[in-house]
Amino acid sequence: MSRELERALDLVTEIRDFPEPGVLFRDLTPLFGDADAFRHVIDALGEAVGEGVDRLAAVEARGFVLAAALGYARGLGVALVRKPGKLPNVAGRVDYELEYGTATLELPMGSVNKGERVAIVDDVLATGGTVAATAELLASAGAEVTGVTVVLELTELDGRSRLGSVPVHALRKV
Ligand code: PRP
Repeated sequence: MSRELERALDLVTEIRDFPEPGVLFRDLTPLFGDADAFRHVIDALGEAVGEGVDRLAAVEARGFVLAAALGYARGLGVALVRKPGKLPNVAGRVDYELEYGTATLELPMGSVNKGERVAIVDDVLATGGTVAATAELLASAGAEVTGVTVVLELTELDGRSRLGSVPVHALRKV
């Protein structure tokens, strides 16, 4: 890994007891706010996503920031997976468990075409609930999930185990 990418990833801060006691929150805000760091992270995510991808998928909200920049850099459209209640035209909905609580995600109608190869991008892989739910939504819409690419993987929570055979690429494992 390049020194620039190491530096970028070192900008992620840890905040104890957020959003609940006992949870160590990883805050990418300083990374998003640093132009050089952000560029190096987007470049590294682009390499990790690999070739043979037709589209990206990302989850609101921090995933959108990464996927938008990555989609532009790689010339790929982005399927925007939303938190509930935002969409007038829902193609699919799934409820799932988070590290702290439960959540629901919705896929907008027309986000993916049947048979498309879609790579999921997010900031953090923790329990894996978010990306597993996203993969379920994409599969229901007829897409093929090629992999999951994240900035940080919290290995202790073993999110990978919820993704079956889907390859996971993390820029840093903590
Ligand atoms: C965070 C993070 C991932 C997810 C990871 O999202 O951005 O999407 O949790 O957790 P998991 O692997 O246990 O599912 P959050 O719901 O906090 O949303 P935000 O991006 O809107 O802050």
